Amino acid sequence: MQHLVDTNNFSDKQIAQLLDDAKNFKNNRPIQLLRDRLLITLFFEPSTRTRSSFEVAAKKLGAAVIHLDPSRSSTKKGESLEDTFTNLCAMEPDAVIIRHSENEAPGMLADMEMTPVINAGAGNYAHPTQALLDLFTMVEHFGDVKGKTIAIVGDIVSSRVASSGIRLFTRMGLNVVLVAPKPFMPKSDLPQYEHLEDVIDKVDVIMSLRAQLERHSSPIFDNYNEYARHYCIDHDRLRDKEILLLHPGPVMRNIDISDKMLEDQRCKVLEQVKNGVYMRMAILKLLLLDS
Ligand code: CP
Repeated sequence: MQHLVDTNNFSDKQIAQLLDDAKNFKNNRPIQLLRDRLLITLFFEPSTRTRSSFEVAAKKLGAAVIHLDPSRSSTKKGESLEDTFTNLCAMEPDAVIIRHSENEAPGMLADMEMTPVINAGAGNYAHPTQALLDLFTMVEHFGDVKGKTIAIVGDIVSSRVASSGIRLFTRMGLNVVLVAPKPFMPKSDLPQYEHLEDVIDKVDVIMSLRAQLERHSSPIFDNYNEYARHYCIDHDRLRDKEILLLHPGPVMRNIDISDKMLEDQRCKVLEQVKNGVYMRMAILKLLLLDS
């Protein structure tokens, strides 16, 4: 039984297969490879993109999807996560897709070996399907990403997107540099910069992250506008540089990325969302059919 807790669950060969399958799904009308399969989604935190993207991906492949809303489940009566999961598994789903605030939750359920578990975002530790769709978006643009440099900009220490991305991108041969004010910078051996201006001429990709000022106990910025003055990706910062601009969403407009830059051809935010469907189709195929 194979799980996706983080991208290290996949071999290099499997990642290459995922990229090929995602491309094929994007270019060809999908066939109902997962007809008669059942997925359960279990999101303990809000989601727009990941949850709906998994549902679209599953339905494009012919699978049925049931969503359990924890805020209306017996979680509210004190049922533990393990018991909720065990009861769902008694209904014999083909996989459970979980988002949780605890870093360890998907791994703990995967270790129970009851059904394939897919991590749809856990704590600040891992968001593997986002990392894979971001890799797909870069591969689609550059072909070979080896040797390209990506700057991850913003609240990196709070970000599961950054955590999974750093592990996958470095493994795939990208150079990763981190750009953030000191309180947003994680402990890391990667090159670190406080200002984007210090590194912008050396990067091929910028991944902007949502400013999560609310997560920090001692705020370093009085408000979001002050943060934006230093880190918002806008035309003054990018000018005419050839750069790919990514953001996992939700984008805080004019704080993470300016309105005008969101319309710029270099900005691939909605392409990432589109690619998320195809990458998640490839992930479902791998876990449910090929493993
Ligand atoms: N990128 C991402 O995880 O978005 P959602 O929180 O809307 O799923």
